Amino acid sequence: MILVLDFGSQYNQLITRRIREFGVYSELHSHKISIDEIKQMNPKGIILSGGPHSVYDENSFRPDEEIFNLGIPVLGICYGMQLMALHFGGKVEKAKNREYGKAMINLQEEPILFNGSPKSQTVWMSHGDKVVEAPNGFQTDATSPSTPIAAISSTDKQMYGVQFHPEVRHSEYGNHLLKQFVFNVSGCTGDWTIENFIEMEVEKIQAKVGDRKVLCALSGGVDSSVVAALIHKAIGDQLTCIFVDHGLLRKNEADDVMKIFADDFNMNIIKVDAANRFLSKLQGVDDPEKKRKIIGNEFIYVFDDEASKLKDIDFLAQGTLYTDIIESGTETAQTIKSHHNVGGLPEDMQFELIEPLNTLFKDEVRELGTQLGLPERIVWRQPFPGPGLAIRVLGEVTEEKLEIVRESDAILREEIVAAGLDRDIWQYFTVLPNIRSVGVMGDARTYEYTIGIRAVTSIDGMTSDWARIPWDVLEKVSTRIVNDVQHINRVVYDITSKPPATIEWE
Ligand code: XMP
Repeated sequence: MILVLDFGSQYNQLITRRIREFGVYSELHSHKISIDEIKQMNPKGIILSGGPHSVYDENSFRPDEEIFNLGIPVLGICYGMQLMALHFGGKVEKAKNREYGKAMINLQEEPILFNGSPKSQTVWMSHGDKVVEAPNGFQTDATSPSTPIAAISSTDKQMYGVQFHPEVRHSEYGNHLLKQFVFNVSGCTGDWTIENFIEMEVEKIQAKVGDRKVLCALSGGVDSSVVAALIHKAIGDQLTCIFVDHGLLRKNEADDVMKIFADDFNMNIIKVDAANRFLSKLQGVDDPEKKRKIIGNEFIYVFDDEASKLKDIDFLAQGTLYTDIIESGTETAQTIKSHHNVGGLPEDMQFELIEPLNTLFKDEVRELGTQLGLPERIVWRQPFPGPGLAIRVLGEVTEEKLEIVRESDAILREEIVAAGLDRDIWQYFTVLPNIRSVGVMGDARTYEYTIGIRAVTSIDGMTSDWARIPWDVLEKVSTRIVNDVQHINRVVYDITSKPPATIEWE
C-alpha cells in the first residue's frame, strides 16, 4: 500500500488514481494523520503531495516529522519536496513569481527515480517557492533553467523529492517516475485488483459487524446497489434494505429493483409503497423548490417510520464514494457529509456508519458492481435525481402527468439503447412542460401537451453540453411518443448547454 498525504494540491486524487492503475493499492489521507495510524496502515511508501501553501506561511500544513524516521521510503512532490528539504536542513526560498506550466528538465548523474527515461524531458511545474540548497547527503537529480534544483534524492535515507508534478499527464515521464518509486524503491508488487478489494472489504465488514445488524437505504442507483450487494456478500441476512417507492420512479423501475435484489440476490428488502403519501403532499404545489423540499422531507419521514419498526439495528450502510470525501477536502467536511446523508433519522437511533466504497472512484465502483454480479443496467445506470419524475413534470404533479413522462421516457430510453448510444450520452430523459398546443391528428384538431427531450454529455453533471443525437433516432423517438403516448401532439428537443441552463428543467 502507498499512502499519499494530502497537503491540499488540486492534483492529489490523481496521484492515488495513477498508483491504483499500476495495480498497487493507494489511499489519500489528511496530512494530520498520526504516526500511530500510519504505522498501523503499514505502507510500503509514503508520498507527500503538493499544496497551495508556502512552507514559511504561519499556518502552513505540516506532517508529523516522525514520518521521515520510519524507515519507509518517502517521495515529496512540490510542496512535499520543500517540506522534506527543510526537515533535512536544506534551504527553501520564497518566490517572487509562480512558475506554472511546461518546463524542460535535464537529469544529472543516474537518479534511480528517472532510471530508463531520457536525459532531457518535459514536466509540469506549478509552484511558487523552491529549494535553493539541497540538504547534506542529498544529490540534485534534475535541473531546469528556472528551477536549478528540480529533483533531489538520498538513496541512503530513501528520500526523494521532485519540484514538478509527475501525476499530471503533461509530465511526459511522470508515470515512469511514479512507477520507479512504487515498484523499485518501495518494493510493491502490483497485484491489487478489485477482487482483492472484495475479499479485503468482506473480511473488514464481517469483523466490524460480527453478529449484529446493518440497515441500508436502497434506491436502485449505482452506489447504493453496490454497497448493498457487497455488504450482503459479507453478512447475508444480517443486512436489511429499505426501498422507498415514492411513485416518482421511471417505468418498471420499482419492480426491476425488487426483482434483482429480492429475487435474484435473495436479500432482505422492505419495499415501502409510499406513492399516495408523496402525491397527496404534492397536491396543488407548483413551485420547484417547494416540491423538492416536500419530497426530501417526506423521504426521511418514510424511512424513519420503517427503520424505527426494526429492532436491534447497529449500523447504517451508505454509498459514499471517495470523490464525495475528497471533494469536501477535510475530515470536518467528511463528518458534515455523513450527517447530511443520515440527516433526519430519529435522535434515539444511534447508528454507526459503514461506508465500504469510500476509498473507491466511480469507475472502480462500477467494476466492483460487475464483479459482484449486478446487471449492466444497474452498474451503468444513468444518474437519476432523488425527487424523481416530480421535477420532470413542470408545475403541479398529477398521476396523469407522471404517466405521460413515464411512458415517453421509456420510449426514449429504449431507442437510445437500440441505437447503441446509452454509454455515450451521460443522461437522457423526457420532461413535460406545462404547455399545450394545437395539432392535427386524423383530420381532427388536437389541443394537447408537448414533450421535451433532454440529453446531455457531461463528466460530473457540473457542466454539460447537449448531446448530438442523430436525426433519424430523434425522428423515431418523436414518432413513437406522439403515436403511443396519450395527450401528446408535439415533441421538442432541448439544445441548451449547462450553463446557462441546468440539466433538469426544475
Ligand atoms: P442540474 O439540473 O442541477 O443537475 O443541472 C445536475 C445533476 O444532478 C442531478 N440532480 C439531482 N440529483 N437529487 C439528486 O440526487 C436532486 O435533487 C437532484 N437535482 C438534480 C441531475 O439529474 C443531474 O444529473
